Amino acid sequence: MKTRITELFGIEHPIMQGGMHYVGYAELAAAVSNAGGLGIITALTQKTPQDLAKEIARCRTMTDKPFGVNLTFLPAVNVPDYPGYIDAIIDGGVRVVETAGRNPEAHLPRLHNAGIKIIHKCTSVRHSLKAEAIGCDAVSVDGFECGGHPGEDDIPNMILLPCAANKLKIPFVASGGMADARSLVAALALGAEGINMGTRFIATKEAPVHDNVKQAILAASELDTRLIMRGLRNTERALNNSATQRVLKTEQELGSALTFADIAADVAGVYPRVMIDGEVEAGVWSCGMVAGLIDDIPTCQELIDRIMRESEALIRDRLAGLLAGAPISMEIA
Ligand SMILES: Cc1cc2nc3c(=O)[nH]c(=O)nc-3n(C[C@H](O)[C@H](O)[C@H](O)COP(=O)(O)O)c2cc1C
Repeated sequence: MKTRITELFGIEHPIMQGGMHYVGYAELAAAVSNAGGLGIITALTQKTPQDLAKEIARCRTMTDKPFGVNLTFLPAVNVPDYPGYIDAIIDGGVRVVETAGRNPEAHLPRLHNAGIKIIHKCTSVRHSLKAEAIGCDAVSVDGFECGGHPGEDDIPNMILLPCAANKLKIPFVASGGMADARSLVAALALGAEGINMGTRFIATKEAPVHDNVKQAILAASELDTRLIMRGLRNTERALNNSATQRVLKTEQELGSALTFADIAADVAGVYPRVMIDGEVEAGVWSCGMVAGLIDDIPTCQELIDRIMRESEALIRDRLAGLLAGAPISMEIA
């Protein structure tokens, strides 16, 4: 399947893996890229630019396919050494950067001069148009369903994607709630040229996280995520665990007096304990509603092959069959 996204990134299938804190290591990025998608290393999980350089080099030993790096621009007090991380990306010969968070404009000239393609993650049409206007090559349109930070507009992908398609000239992938062939075919129908998956890729054999995290995703239904930090305008969709419940209780008690410090113990610096040690109740961790569609732990190759095989069947048999007057079947493969 060829789209402007597969052409832009030089990949076989229109499927990418979003940057994920303490998940997006070389092992996962290489596995996704080897399976024909676009794997992404998460820059800020690496403590220093030197560590990122080593992680990029490690990824190169595992794949000769294109992979990317996620650069998340946080509203942080201690601003990370972004120019240093960008040096590591450029020196490492990385061809794609997924930016997220704040406006990446200040960093685009250096990245573009190095021949790097930029896909910026946006939770609204207006931010997507801004990304296009400042020269991003593509957008990842992240709907209300998504794990992580869905923004403050609460527009699900069924509306957000066609609204984006109506306005954008650059290609975009659908992000948030994507799990299988049905997601990909629906995303294509709504105007996207590929999909970005986060939560689905955590429940794969190669995701280098503790098995407890994968089992928690398998056990979760579509009802098992919650939104926190709404009052701070930094909304995050997270798995509903005891830490999330504590945060929600504090938010309710403090109302508009809430500050980040009131909940920091449950949301800041907790990823190593969750992802590495498998203490899934130790803190708040991002998870998408799509957990309700995840019930196995395939390899990335099995997952991507299945999505592509079933997408073809969906388009050829179910959709083309409808035009030919065949009775509707719910079978997708
Ligand atoms: C555990 C976890 C950690 C994440 N960390 C980041 C991050 O550091 N930077 C970022 O841009 N997005 C992050 N995301 C968002 C994903 O890249 C992706 O946009 C999102 O998961 C898509 O929604 P889905 O989970 O429904 O597939 C994270 C998501 C999860 C589930």
